[in-house]
Amino acid sequence: MKRLIFGQAALLSQGPSAPPFPNTLTASQLSVMAGRLHLARHRKETTQALFIQKESIPLNEATEIFGEELLSALCRTGLFRETAEGVASNFKGQWSDEFFFLSDYHPKNGPAPDDYVLSIGPSAQYLHSITTRRAIEEALDLGCGCGVQTLFLARHAKRVTATDINPRCLEMTRLNAQLNGIDNIELLEGSYFEPVYGRQFDLIVANTPYVITPASTHTYRDALGTGDNMVLSNLKSLPQYLKEGGVAHMLITWLHKDKQHPDEPIRAITQILPVDTLLLHQYSDTPWGYAGNWIYGHIKKNWVKFLLTRLGWAAWYWLHGMERFAFGSVTLRKRMDSQGHFLLKCTNRIAGKSAGAHIQSLLDAAVFLQTNSDSSQYWQMVFRSRHLVLKTTPVGEVRKVSLAESLLLPVSISPLMGQLLSRLDGKRTLRQAYEQALRDGFDESIPQEQILQEACKLIGNGYLKQA
Ligand SMILES: C[S@@+](CC[C@H](N)C(=O)[O-])C[C@H]1O[C@@H](n2cnc3c(N)ncnc32)[C@H](O)[C@@H]1O
Repeated sequence: MKRLIFGQAALLSQGPSAPPFPNTLTASQLSVMAGRLHLARHRKETTQALFIQKESIPLNEATEIFGEELLSALCRTGLFRETAEGVASNFKGQWSDEFFFLSDYHPKNGPAPDDYVLSIGPSAQYLHSITTRRAIEEALDLGCGCGVQTLFLARHAKRVTATDINPRCLEMTRLNAQLNGIDNIELLEGSYFEPVYGRQFDLIVANTPYVITPASTHTYRDALGTGDNMVLSNLKSLPQYLKEGGVAHMLITWLHKDKQHPDEPIRAITQILPVDTLLLHQYSDTPWGYAGNWIYGHIKKNWVKFLLTRLGWAAWYWLHGMERFAFGSVTLRKRMDSQGHFLLKCTNRIAGKSAGAHIQSLLDAAVFLQTNSDSSQYWQMVFRSRHLVLKTTPVGEVRKVSLAESLLLPVSISPLMGQLLSRLDGKRTLRQAYEQALRDGFDESIPQEQILQEACKLIGNGYLKQA
């Protein structure tokens, strides 16, 4: 196992078509490049052509953006290349918030090389948006790719450890960190937890390969072994790398039977771990649908080959008894002190950019509801409603609530509860808010029992919290 810290020499196992790495760019050149990229952010057409569409841009435009000296350094070191039409980039480039990330272009007509570095896609964005963000000491990004999670963690963790089995990913993460002025990261090469054995973290994020295929040919996406064994084995290992109270978020595909409730296999694993669990189930797919979704892009271009490959994959799934492929994420919070709680939510929708705070509230809510199972006590409790968006139906009878920055978990409530919510400001008990609403002329025909049931739903979905 190699240990890589900033400044050490680059190491590269170059795949068949991975471009040579621009590892001789100096820190000051990278910092000038970052400045130039920020200034050019509004030139969407040009930067998109260069960094997303893999096209050449005219030399004069490239010079305008990067300046003559930097441009020649970028070409000399291999980040860019000169072409008959001007200048082209050998690397893909994407903005995500204030960070700019370099990664590899996926080959158009063939498989990705072994050491391919994935760009920022929907799963990376999803993991980023569900991550709980609070000031912490140590974070771990397992399978860092181009470093997208690493850099965002570096904003609120004192130190981030990024690991990957592909040394080129570590180099890309190093380059992206330097480009974005981030220096609190440690890069370790190795498989899964091997490089951090014996250590514990406040926060772990893992977008490691979870796609179940017969071939396991793509290091960046295919789960190793047969089925979901490797994914579930990593899930089981997570708590031992967490400090008490620490949180881990992992994207997973897991298998379940057609007639089985999707959460059962995950529940069976986490109920014997010292954790609270939040399982977000996005969807479950059939073998045929799953194969159609994940067969490699270059095969899909030839429909005969695609059909034969799809039949082959579906047959392999059938032979191995794989009936349903579920996708989602697991959030674990380590708790050595008592029995863990399990919470399932079925959603793939997020309002706003970040659902991290909401996810934290959901875990707290599960503990609250378990500890306060007699809801009649709620009348004496002081609650605070959280940044809610209330939606009234055309007849004005039911309101849906969801959080402005959150997982979308709409709850239907009565108009009276809608009134109570605006009065639950962290100062009044539920009883006082209820009496106030009645004094203000709102409908008293709704049974108190129903108010308590609605309060439970709101608490359970993280919209109402004990103050
Ligand atoms: C789907 S990509 C995700 C990259 C990045 N975390 C993100 O969110 O975009 C999976 C990453 O896991 C890495 N990986 C694959 N097998 C691994 C292993 N056994 N141990 C550590 N990392 C691995 C791949 O090289 C790749 O960078």
